[in-house]
Amino acid sequence: MVQYEIEKPIKKYLSDLSKKIRSSFIEEKLRTLSEIFSGKIVFSTSFNIEDQLISHFILDRKIPIKIFTLDTGRIFKETYKVWSDTNKFYNHSISAYFPDPNRLEKFLSEKGPNSFYENVKNRTKCCFLRKVEPLKRALKGNLIWITGLRSEHSIERKELNDLEWDANYNLIKYHPLFDWNLKKIEKIIKKYNIPYNHLYNKGYLSIGCAPCTRSVKYGENYRSGRWWWESNSVKKECGLHFKNLESKK
Ligand code: ADX
Ligand code: SF4
Repeated sequence: MVQYEIEKPIKKYLSDLSKKIRSSFIEEKLRTLSEIFSGKIVFSTSFNIEDQLISHFILDRKIPIKIFTLDTGRIFKETYKVWSDTNKFYNHSISAYFPDPNRLEKFLSEKGPNSFYENVKNRTKCCFLRKVEPLKRALKGNLIWITGLRSEHSIERKELNDLEWDANYNLIKYHPLFDWNLKKIEKIIKKYNIPYNHLYNKGYLSIGCAPCTRSVKYGENYRSGRWWWESNSVKKECGLHFKNLESKK
């Protein structure tokens, strides 16, 4: 399965770009991209372990890439802590995007605070209002979006490429840790004493909003702790990286 068909000129452009950043070090790749897409390159962080590593290279090596997070309003207190620790550790303020208050107020007034447990429609609407809509604002005017997405996260993600065209948002998307495994990431996190979310030590491999995330047991699927109450036939995505199941009205 391919996420979307891309046109030939874009394919060729991505293949040339891929050659330009074919160097061994992640920071060199990020720096090269920051020069090519100067001022129009952003990285989104949810403060998961992958994101912390990417933030480290951007902030420690002073690579001019804007870092932002989508504060859904329902994230864990541990996530707020790692956000705050990261700001202090690097003496930097990560930008925040919050859901549109009017739309969220309407949704909560109509459906109540936990309607996402009731059906997939409510769940994807909540994800749309709290994540996808703010993401659109965060990406506006940019040419390239960096994420911590990795191939081992899920079968769907395995089908992607580290460098791809995102037809939803009309920009290039780059996943610098696409082929990395957790061991390698953990090693560098330890080596540089990089702050990370302590829920990770309790089996939270993939961390999203608090009411929709639980820990996983050793050997369980990486993302099985996300929206765990939904049937396996439902795509376990909120719409940031795949088209939302809910219409985008
Ligand atoms: S999600 O779509 O299921 O939420 P996941 O948690 O696997 O995504 O994270 C993959 C990447 O999406 C992260 O590395 C990060 O780049 C981006 N991302 C996910 N959630 C957020 C968020 N709340 N704020 C900013 N970026 C996010
Ligand atoms: Fe809403 Fe849960 Fe999606 Fe967060 S993960 S936006 S709380 S449905």
